[in-house]
Amino acid sequence: MTATWHSLLAEAAFPEEGKLATQIAGWHVLVARTDDGFAALNDRCTHQAAQLSGGKIRRGAVMCPLHGARFEVETGKCIGGAYADLRKFDLRVSDGTIEVCMPDEPPGLNETPVLA
Ligand code: FES
Repeated sequence: MTATWHSLLAEAAFPEEGKLATQIAGWHVLVARTDDGFAALNDRCTHQAAQLSGGKIRRGAVMCPLHGARFEVETGKCIGGAYADLRKFDLRVSDGTIEVCMPDEPPGLNETPVLA
């Protein structure tokens, strides 16, 4: 599967709340600040497809707003609940701009969140 880097926004313009929900190349993406920089995750809970960006981020983990599963922002690993890990996308900061590497193929239904 091929992938392409997409410019997202200036690092300095990243929301103070530490997370951003966006769409890139048809994917719903949660970008969150981490201890080391930023991480980009598929914005879809692996339990029942809720959009995770509506959840709170505490101590490096995002909590699903629907049933409370927790996923480590840095890795996408499920740490609260027995669900699959989130898909993580490569992210870099280049000349002050956050860029995310997205698959060129759009997501299937099993990777698209159910929107509230
Ligand atoms: S949909 Fe996320 S925990 Fe159930």
